[in-house]
Amino acid sequence: MALSNNKHDDYGNVLTILGAQWGDEGKGKLIDILSGEYDIIARAAGGANAGHTVYVPKADNPNENDKYVFHLMPSGMLYPNTIGVIGNGCVIHLPTLVDEIKLLEDSGIKVSDRLFISDRAHLVFDYHKKIDGIQEESKGTGKVGTTKRGIGPAYMDKIGRSGIRVHDLQDFEMFEFKLRANASNLSKTYDTNIDPLPEIDTHRKILGIIKPLIKDTSLYLDNAINRGKKILIEGANGTLLDIDHGTYPFVTSSNASMAGIIGGTGVSPNKINTVIGIMKAYSTRVGSGPFPTELSNSTGDDLRTAGGEFGATTGRPRRCGWFDAVAANYSCRINGYNSINLTKLDVLSDLDTIKIGTKYILKGKQIESLPASANDLEEVDVDYIELPGWKKDISNVRNIEDLPKNALAYVKKIEELIDCKISSVGVGISRDQMAF
Ligand code: GDP
Ligand code: IMO
Ligand code: MG
Repeated sequence: MALSNNKHDDYGNVLTILGAQWGDEGKGKLIDILSGEYDIIARAAGGANAGHTVYVPKADNPNENDKYVFHLMPSGMLYPNTIGVIGNGCVIHLPTLVDEIKLLEDSGIKVSDRLFISDRAHLVFDYHKKIDGIQEESKGTGKVGTTKRGIGPAYMDKIGRSGIRVHDLQDFEMFEFKLRANASNLSKTYDTNIDPLPEIDTHRKILGIIKPLIKDTSLYLDNAINRGKKILIEGANGTLLDIDHGTYPFVTSSNASMAGIIGGTGVSPNKINTVIGIMKAYSTRVGSGPFPTELSNSTGDDLRTAGGEFGATTGRPRRCGWFDAVAANYSCRINGYNSINLTKLDVLSDLDTIKIGTKYILKGKQIESLPASANDLEEVDVDYIELPGWKKDISNVRNIEDLPKNALAYVKKIEELIDCKISSVGVGISRDQMAF
């Protein structure tokens, strides 16, 4: 299942692909495209809050696609020999993982014999989801708009040093003991009834599936790299949702940026050859929080319809807006991308003119970068430039230089504004719809 058009740059043996905006940039698609060239695909951070969509032409009818959505499973598993790793930085709801394994295997893609999960990854339980809901309720109008997948509460247990890790399953008696203790403590903290018995029961039932997958994945990846194997590390969520560098507190609870890749795989930074940032040709965000270039009008609605902008995990409508070059620059600075995959350019094809946010003005003064305060970011006025549209179908373009003049000018303008090379451009949902 080789990529039809793979004349891309040399990315080296260890490649990282990162979400450069607020998530849902189209990471899954490039990961799937490149995975055919990699031996191992490793997730590093986040959990089932991620939803990575991949469309693959049907074997018997290439004009139609099969759709796959990956939540915990690495997005490169559609190739029969790729090995998947879920790294130590992830928080794993094991029943969800088992469901994902089953779904893929029911559609004829065997994965359970080529998937490993880190012994150091933390577990998400149903009670974390319940607490996620309680925390959101208590925030009233300040809700984060989480995916309710228990991500924040699971990372709270991790940072609070009471988390339960994958290796704890190896000694089930100890696992039960820790689970009962946590359930009792959390029941008191949140004044709610958390019953550990259903969790114990569920995990006992799936133990047989999970145990063979458990590995010291940092050691495994390092050995593989030293043997010359090719590794693709798959980012989840997005840099502007990063717990440190995102639009706090409207963020997820892990490092979705480069820091999470290192910490969440245990792969040494000096072994990583290339970092590609995925940026949508416009902006979207799900959930609450500041969004300076948001279009709360019919243009935003049109973008949502044209781009099919509905959450891959929760189905929520995504908020849409113009490309934000200030936020993109910030993302480039934090992560040091070698190049960018600009996705969904085709979605803009019907527009007469297209805007790009180029400057933030706060209280009458231009500011150099994103402010720390979400209130300040909410208040910024954005300066825009406006470019002419191209009004042509670009879905069959496979070389960036063959884009219509105005589309190429749009790509080149973004390249100039963010001072980073755009090495591939998405022109449609399908695996082959990428211009290099
Ligand atoms: P991820 O979380 O970053 O993997 O992105 P999602 O899968 O949540 O959302 C991206 C959506 O855009 C998915 O439905 C993709 O199939 C779709 N997509 C990705 N690249 C392109 C593209 O170049 N053009 C179009 N039209 N859709 C794309
Ligand atoms: P992928 O990997 C888009 C957002 C949620 C919410 C905030 C916190 O598909 O790009 P959480 O459940 O993590 O506590 O929610 O972060 N969020 C995402 N938005 N794509 C994602 O992942 C996201 N992961 C988290 O909508 O605003
Ligand atoms: Mg997504």
